[in-house]
Amino acid sequence: MKSTASPLTHARSSYKPKLPKVLAAPSIVVKKGKATRSISDEAEIQKLFPHTYGQSEVLFASGKGGIKCAKPIHVALVLSGGQAPGGHNVVAGLFDGLKKLNKKNKLTGYLGGPSGLLENKKVEITDSFLVPYRNTGGFDIIGSGRTKLETEEQYEAVIKNLTAADISALVVVGGDDSNTNAAVLGEYFKHRSVPITVVGCPKTIDGDLKNQQVEVSFGFDTATKVYAELTGNVQSDCLSAKKYWHFIKLMGRSASHIALEVALKCQPNITLISEEVAANKWTLSQVTEQMAQVVVSRSVDGKNYGVIVIPEGLLEFIPEMKKLIGTLNDTLAHNAEFEALEYAGAKIEYVKEHLNGENLTAFQSLPPSIQAQLLADRDPHGNVQVSKIDTEKLLIEAIELKLKALKKDGKYSGKFSAQGHFFGYEGRCAAPSNLDADYCYALGFTASYLAAAGLTGYLSSVRDLLKPAAQWRAGGIPLTMMMNLERRHGKDKPVIQKAMVDLGGKPFQTLVKNRARWAARDEYLSPGPIQYWGPTKVADQVPVTLQLERGK
Ligand code: FBP
Repeated sequence: MKSTASPLTHARSSYKPKLPKVLAAPSIVVKKGKATRSISDEAEIQKLFPHTYGQSEVLFASGKGGIKCAKPIHVALVLSGGQAPGGHNVVAGLFDGLKKLNKKNKLTGYLGGPSGLLENKKVEITDSFLVPYRNTGGFDIIGSGRTKLETEEQYEAVIKNLTAADISALVVVGGDDSNTNAAVLGEYFKHRSVPITVVGCPKTIDGDLKNQQVEVSFGFDTATKVYAELTGNVQSDCLSAKKYWHFIKLMGRSASHIALEVALKCQPNITLISEEVAANKWTLSQVTEQMAQVVVSRSVDGKNYGVIVIPEGLLEFIPEMKKLIGTLNDTLAHNAEFEALEYAGAKIEYVKEHLNGENLTAFQSLPPSIQAQLLADRDPHGNVQVSKIDTEKLLIEAIELKLKALKKDGKYSGKFSAQGHFFGYEGRCAAPSNLDADYCYALGFTASYLAAAGLTGYLSSVRDLLKPAAQWRAGGIPLTMMMNLERRHGKDKPVIQKAMVDLGGKPFQTLVKNRARWAARDEYLSPGPIQYWGPTKVADQVPVTLQLERGK
């Protein structure tokens, strides 16, 4: 244990993740299902993945003559993308699974994400090295990063480094993009007859790596529990002081799963769902008009306060802003003239000179602070970094203007004082909830068996999360099964499909059913902090969205 460990970390270090019965079996056999197909664009995906397309889903079962490691194997691990609670337990499960198969099996972590594979920066993960990290949050055991592996030169460097270390399997822990990368790498290894198995693991707090086969990505449960605690606290403060409107932006990049989960857990007065805004093609003015109407009607009831939840990626779903952001991404990509400009003011002027029509109008409608944020550095995919845009402040300003106009017309006489919040990084490295601690451990353990069985191009899968952990099913899903073609930078690319909020689904429909009441009344719920011990109902809660999606 680290000498700096907190009392909670100390106490939590002895937590033994609950293992599905099948993974605890002395011998685990592979049951193969039927051949699979990609979710769409079958012919194209098959052509791009000739060696790994169409593999069967696999399910583990207890049985004689199961997966073995008669000869010790050496497995490599890389953590990719944003942090998500439970990552350390994936490492622990992977390590323990490998050691169960053969005490001499080895696990090596590549440092700082995929770049570690290129630069050959690594560390061997041993029992004593792992001890302080079990059941803790963070990815600090080996670090993470967003380097994309996409060129043949990079693949060859990875082959060289892994082969030199005598690695027989690589486990990639990541979101939809990183697992797409894992699929491409697995296919490339096969094409080059390189005997390295590639296995993926579904991670992201955003919750957008889910589908028929994946119930939830790890980290979503813990992160939403942290955001729900904070939102619940803000609601109690709001109700005590009765003087502020709180605008809470929640992390989650594009999809609004996090905002929806927190809304269902806390029942704030207003929740914006980006997918609904896009489906209705609401303009920024229409969105703020609806919000202002709630402010007005609550003020008539003497309530000049309230709580609003906003998804991080909202701006990109408002049609005129989406168009503007797309144009800016194209205009600013590899633009040396623009990059040479030092000050935000000069950058804004440059962009105004290069925009026209609707794009110019949309850009000019934004306050200078937001204009500058839209021009900030792009991410490695060339996209605007939504976590850096103060959408909550933009909405506050826009609503203030609407209310001023309504006041002038005698249609509003309330008081409006607002506070903005952004909850994002606060939730990504929290100590994993029991669900994430158990789920991640089982995902890592499953990955070790997929690796030992040489099942390349598979995503580690643990299902039936609504049942007690002992009954969870474990196995592997072919990565190509989750793929389709999407247009990226002017080219069709095979990618794992990102799950957006389903507007016809039960979670969103539950919000729709209740939102008029939640807007008018103060039916705030306060979920409180994550409980690691205590009644199952509290300590082992699963996400509300998962209960609504998969519950009976
Ligand atoms: P992943 O999809 O890689 O898990 O990352 C998710 C996320 O936390 C988003 O919610 C957020 O927009 C983004 O990462 C922030 O990225 P960064 O950590 O690079 O600031």
